[in-house]
Amino acid sequence: MPKCLVTGGAGFIGSNLVDELIKQNNQVVVIDNLSTGKKENLNPRAEFHELDIRNLEKIKPLFANIDYVFHLAAFPRVQPSIEDPATANDINLNGTLNVLLAARDAKVKRVVYSASSSAYGDQTKMPLTENMPAHPLSPYGLQKYVGELYCRLFSDIFGLSTVSLRYFNIYGKRQALVGAYCLVMGTFVNQRLAGKPLTITGDGNNRRDYTSVIDAVKANILASRSDRVGRGEVINIGRGHNFSVNELAAMIGGPTVHIAPRLEPRETLADNSLAKKLLGWEPTVNLPEWLEGYKREMGL
Ligand SMILES: NC(=O)c1ccc[n+]([C@@H]2O[C@H](COP(=O)([O-])OP(=O)(O)OC[C@H]3O[C@@H](n4cnc5c(N)ncnc54)[C@H](O)[C@@H]3O)[C@@H](O)[C@H]2O)c1
Repeated sequence: MPKCLVTGGAGFIGSNLVDELIKQNNQVVVIDNLSTGKKENLNPRAEFHELDIRNLEKIKPLFANIDYVFHLAAFPRVQPSIEDPATANDINLNGTLNVLLAARDAKVKRVVYSASSSAYGDQTKMPLTENMPAHPLSPYGLQKYVGELYCRLFSDIFGLSTVSLRYFNIYGKRQALVGAYCLVMGTFVNQRLAGKPLTITGDGNNRRDYTSVIDAVKANILASRSDRVGRGEVINIGRGHNFSVNELAAMIGGPTVHIAPRLEPRETLADNSLAKKLLGWEPTVNLPEWLEGYKREMGL
């Protein structure tokens, strides 16, 4: 039975990954400090350690006999990292370095790093391909990008097998509906539930490539086992189709109101051909169909 360690396994994407790993008969150890993650997300069959990845001494022993590390713990999201760049840096960079050091010393088979499409920032050409120069617009984007570079460096100089998955706007079961960590879809659903107008930032023409958490989880598991990766490759994990904020608001329904724009990229759209080639990964879930079911479930 393969033994996996998931950092951030009580979070949105991490907990979905833990569930699937357990379903596929993996033994799972979770490290999470429950800062944005929740105990109720935790699969009872996972071995849980409430620890902070900034504490190398504490987390290091848990890497013994681990086959695959999935590193998802992070100070996630753009706006909070602008408000507190130092804490974001400490978690996203020092924390990631600790995970890589512990993984290297324990000689794990592979580290799969959760990277972010925010590394691209604003680009003039679409779709986004992995060989475009990174141009992050926030401390979060910069830190997630440096995390990728660290992974590649650990592969180059220590021979640690790593691969980075650049997620594009992940949505699905257990996505946040409130708070600073909530993405636009969660905000809209929550506003609709509260009978409030949906707040569209700027003109609402910004476009995002929305990707299902089911597909993000599949990508992680494929990336851990594929023999075509392991040298710090960076791979887009995106649906390859995007929607504007206005289109998303129309799908959720109800009145809208425009608020001040934010510093954010105009568009994201993944070229996902590398994921297909190296991982055999294909997106399987479409946002409009998923949203219909989700709206029914939420009573909208
Ligand atoms: N959700 C997205 O659309 C998206 C897009 C791109 C990249 N990502 C990346 O995917 C990963 C998971 O994101 P998510 O959306 O599930 O966010 P999340 O906030 O739900 O999950 C992050 C988890 O990490 C834990 N954590 C935070 N700091 C920690 C620390 N210092 N020590 C231990 N645990 C800590 C949190 O408690 C939480 O459970 C992150 O690395 C994020 O950068 C997410």
